[in-house]
Amino acid sequence: MSYDLIIAGGTVATASDTFNCDVGIREGRIAALGHDLGAADRRIDASGKLVLPGGIDSHVHISQPSGEGIVMADDFASGTLSAAFGGNTTVMPFCVQEKGTPLRRTLREYHAKAEGCCYTDVSFHLVISEPSEQVLGQDLPALIEDGYTSFKVFMTYEGLALADYEMLQVMSVARETGALVMVHAENYDAIRFLTQRLEQGGKIAPKFHGTSRPIPVEREATHRAISLAELIDVPVMIVHVSNREAMEEIARARSRGLKVYGETCPQYLVLTEADMDGLNMEGTKYVCSPPPRDHASQAACWEGLQNGVFQTFSSDHCPFRYDDPAGKLNPKGRTSFRWVPNGIPGVETRLPILFSEGVGKGRISLNQFVALSATNHAKMYGLTKKGSIAVGMDADIAIWDPEREVTIGQSLLHHGSDYTPYEGIAVRGWPVTTIVRGQVVVCDGVLEARPGAGRHVARDRSAFARPAG
Ligand code: URP
Ligand code: ZN
Ligand code: ZN
Ligand code: ZN
Repeated sequence: MSYDLIIAGGTVATASDTFNCDVGIREGRIAALGHDLGAADRRIDASGKLVLPGGIDSHVHISQPSGEGIVMADDFASGTLSAAFGGNTTVMPFCVQEKGTPLRRTLREYHAKAEGCCYTDVSFHLVISEPSEQVLGQDLPALIEDGYTSFKVFMTYEGLALADYEMLQVMSVARETGALVMVHAENYDAIRFLTQRLEQGGKIAPKFHGTSRPIPVEREATHRAISLAELIDVPVMIVHVSNREAMEEIARARSRGLKVYGETCPQYLVLTEADMDGLNMEGTKYVCSPPPRDHASQAACWEGLQNGVFQTFSSDHCPFRYDDPAGKLNPKGRTSFRWVPNGIPGVETRLPILFSEGVGKGRISLNQFVALSATNHAKMYGLTKKGSIAVGMDADIAIWDPEREVTIGQSLLHHGSDYTPYEGIAVRGWPVTTIVRGQVVVCDGVLEARPGAGRHVARDRSAFARPAG
């Protein structure tokens, strides 16, 4: 039987092995790995290239309502286009519960926005902002049953932060239903207090965003989130970890047998707090939470990627335009850092940065790269058919040119933002071809697919979400 597509002559890598073979694809699935596979409708020559599982970015924000007058820079078309050009085949955006609106209705709205315009597969996490009886007792368990098997909770942000009591309530639902809880760990009251003190002292420049949420703010909340999870006996994923002290909380919990996982992001590897200290409002381009720290924190995060404190490496893509009152330059005389929307774009640059700075500089192996960029995301969040190159898996593949030298710059990228915080970073290694369930989306840097090539994927429950007992 012939194949729809054969990727020939490349070096295939998974989270555990590296080997030379051809990949035969039929009906969207990987049908054979080997040599001399025979006939195919199409052949892609991958000699001299790496054939890797398509990236899974399990932490992105797309088309999220972002407060008064602020508009996120990516819709599902541009966000997933940018993802595809960055070697990703699946992204996992958040569907944020709107207070007073039925959770299912909000989810339908997100689906409507994504429908027919995605270039990669998409799978939503939920964000629980109002754990009402209806949500805890019915809506959330039903949605988890329907394949939305993870949700995020926030310990900070006006309108999103949950009190400890509420954290315990939603964690109990996760325990009963097998969902994985993701936590944004920063101490809300501490940030409010510090922000007010800074503003009273006239310290309102973008760089004070960092001062308003220093490391103890993150470390304390990480510790508290883990303690709450321990009380319920439920696994927990601490997302966007920025520094060693928070990592130590995770490592310590794990050494006590708790199922605590960690995620870090490119901004904590290559940016520092000093980037927020630019001319005029340039510093807002780097404002995200937790904020980028210092070089010692960068080194710590690399260690965490090497030694398994972190299971996943995600972009936390949360794009706003810079030169835009609906973006980073907030209007209405709101000049304090407090009003700068938090988040930076990075879905297209996540993997080139990890590859070049990680594999290229000998900090991680190629197989670790695959685990951190795809395989572990699939396992952690129940994407059972994704994240590896093996017979029977979805044919989600990124072909990389490991030698290609690129200086990252806004003009290369496909996101809706008008800047990249990674401008000028030189990388070696770039994804050139992206294949989603056997369909070639990007070929040699040229878009081939139409919007709608990507679709929503319901997920299984993850083994990582099972209580330790
Ligand atoms: O600053 C950030 N990270 N914005 C995105 C929202 C979040 O907390 O992940
Ligand atoms: Zn967050
Ligand atoms: Zn985020
Ligand atoms: Zn081609």
